[in-house]
Order: sequence, then structure tokens, then C-alpha cells
Amino acid sequence: MAVLPIIVAPDSRLKVKCASVGRVDDAARRLMDDMLETMYAAPGIGLAAPQVGVRTRVIVLDVAREGEERRPLRLADPEIVWASDDDMSYEEGCLSLPQHYAEVIRPRSVTVRFRDYDNTVRELTADGLLSTCLQHEIDHLDGILFVDRISALKRNMILRKLLKSKKAKTLETA
Ligand code: NI
Repeated sequence: MAVLPIIVAPDSRLKVKCASVGRVDDAARRLMDDMLETMYAAPGIGLAAPQVGVRTRVIVLDVAREGEERRPLRLADPEIVWASDDDMSYEEGCLSLPQHYAEVIRPRSVTVRFRDYDNTVRELTADGLLSTCLQHEIDHLDGILFVDRISALKRNMILRKLLKSKKAKTLETA
């Protein structure tokens, strides 16, 4: 397993629509494992393949609290097949938008169909944090960041700050 570099916004590689996995083979399993290791190292509770520069529909999550046993989830070709009518608001963050958070409104519960580590098609119904996290990661696969779901004013403020700190970093290493 390997810890991969995480792409920070704004970056065109975070705005792509990713391709289906189709069948979960050894290469897809290796990607899932590397992504989990990267996510735990960050640390974070979810990661999508485009965040490590891979244009494929794979996400990993673990919403276990600190001190609880790990509950890693590895999903290929995740698809929301049902969403509740009632919404919830959650303060979201993202490893590609470090140190920025915003309230995002999404359906409270969802059912997601996906292929698991063994290429078996499964369905998972979630609410609360796991539901939010699943929707956030699936958005990444279509090039959508959580800031795309908040006001343009707040989005532009966050992206401007990220761009500024990126430029500062480039100058430091130049
Ligand atoms: Ni994210």
C-alpha cells in the first residue's frame, strides 16, 4: 500500500467526470487500498479517486469515531438509487479544500448501489454523517466539490484563499 499525494483545489483534475470501473480487479483493489491508506494518513473520513489524480469511479470512507474500531468502506461505481425527501445540513470539509468548511444541505438518507472489494453488487442505506459523506464522495466522481453546492459568494471566497496559499507555496519552493 502507498500514501498518494492529494490534489488541492482549484485544479482542473478535480472537475472531471470519472469513468466506470466495470469489474473490480486487482488493480482496482490496489487503488482502493492505497486510497484508504492515504485517507487515514491525512486524516480524513472519505476520499474519491480524482483527488489522487485517478479518473475512475472509486471512493473509500470510514466514519468511525476516534477510538472506535475502523470501519473501512471501499466502493466502485457507486450510484444513488434512492434519496429521502427530507434534507439535512452538515458542516462539510474536504481533503482537497484543506481548512475550509461550510454548511451543505443534502438528502438526509440515501441508498447507494455499488461493487464491493470482491466485485459483488451491494446496496447500502445510510443516514446522518455516512449519508452526507457518501453523497460528498460520489459528487467528486462527477467533478462536483462541496463548494459547488453553496453560495457563489462563499465558494469564490474559499477558492480565492486556496489559490493564494498555493501561490505562496510555489514561491517558497521556487
Ligand atoms: Ni471531498
